[in-house]
Amino acid sequence: MSSVDMDTIVSLCKRRGFIFQSSEIYGGAGGCWDYGPLGVELKRNVKEAWWKAMVHDRDDVVGIDAAILMNPQVWVASGHVQQFSDPLVDCKACKNRFRADHVKGNKCPDCGGELTEPRMFNLMFKTFMGPVENDAAVVYLRPETAQGIFVNFQNVMSTTRRKLPLGIAQVGKSFRNEITTGNFIFRSREFEQMEMEYFVKPGTDEHWFQHWLEQRFNWYVNLGIRKENLRLRQHEKEELAHYAKGCYDVEYLFPMGWSELEGIANRADYDLTQHAKYSGKDLSVFEEETKERFVPYVIEPSAGVDRSVLAFLLDSYHEEMVEKEKRVVLRLHPALAPIKVAVLPLSRNEKLVPMATEVHASIRGCFVTQYDDSQSIGRRYRRQDEIGTPFCVTIDFQSLEDKQVTIRDRDSLQQIRVPIETLKTTLAAKLAGEAFDVLPPGGSVVTGAKN
Ligand code: GLY
Repeated sequence: MSSVDMDTIVSLCKRRGFIFQSSEIYGGAGGCWDYGPLGVELKRNVKEAWWKAMVHDRDDVVGIDAAILMNPQVWVASGHVQQFSDPLVDCKACKNRFRADHVKGNKCPDCGGELTEPRMFNLMFKTFMGPVENDAAVVYLRPETAQGIFVNFQNVMSTTRRKLPLGIAQVGKSFRNEITTGNFIFRSREFEQMEMEYFVKPGTDEHWFQHWLEQRFNWYVNLGIRKENLRLRQHEKEELAHYAKGCYDVEYLFPMGWSELEGIANRADYDLTQHAKYSGKDLSVFEEETKERFVPYVIEPSAGVDRSVLAFLLDSYHEEMVEKEKRVVLRLHPALAPIKVAVLPLSRNEKLVPMATEVHASIRGCFVTQYDDSQSIGRRYRRQDEIGTPFCVTIDFQSLEDKQVTIRDRDSLQQIRVPIETLKTTLAAKLAGEAFDVLPPGGSVVTGAKN
């Protein structure tokens, strides 16, 4: 399990500006969260790492960005109007509401009152399109990004002149009027998804299903999540969503137990067949080589951005004793760290500041940086550790003499000294994974550094 409880992460996120409660000054908005200056960087990095792995590093996947509001017929065809519901019970005494599958027996968990029989409750948020608020104007906030991909399948096939297998990826907001939210950003009503629909010839779907199970599990491992905190769990038949022929969850061992990070489903030809039926458009493809016409099957890896952010925060959190003091460090993968390099003059001494400003200016176009000259150097190191900054660059009085600066490694606390003219290339190499003690020409190891 991650070595930290949820309260510690919630408090770090608030204190350091990763994540705030939505509309906090008004007492919050249930199940909604705002990302602060560091949180937005971390979240962007998670999405960029996904887009790189899923789109840019592959020849068989392209991206789209579809509208959140869609023709309401989309949700009739997809089955969400009919079937995207949870069973709900009300307490007759205190009026609180619960998911029927989250309570045992028929007593209210809050006050012990009697519960109603379960009723089905649709999870889609409704609003109105246009100036008239009547039934004909009802539209839905999308509960998944997937349907924006299905309804654009023909557009993408014809404009990119691709053959199967072809993946279409999308990252964006989705909305679900969850009855029970909770566990911080794990289950919220407004959230972000990273989804890819991989269209394949029927009969090859099992092969591609296995391929994506492996790829997606390894994505988390490659970005630093410990293998022992991850597992693949196959859905039981009764758990399967209405569209799925088979499904596995990538689960993370969160503080509340094993919970879903990502679902990988075989949606077969369910969605394209439904949209063909409801739209009257032919959504089959013709395979030139075999002269066969068929409706593609679809493998869908569907990941939660916010859940991934939470897992990366939990898994990277470490506490340790350094020089008899507690050090909190986020050992985030450099690709995910919100700030890559902090530039720290030893003090605000008037001789050091111009050089530190110049060093900062020389690297800030290449890396996301932070300049900090407040408080003692020790406290500034600890602040950077706590937000996961992989490297700190320190400018001291010796730098004025020898035109060298110190680079400190977040994880090992080792320090090296390098000529300023090699700083940019040295940092780029270290951020790309070069061992910290590999030195540039003229560099040296600082012995005895423990901070
Ligand atoms: N598209 C699958 C899901 O949103 O869970």
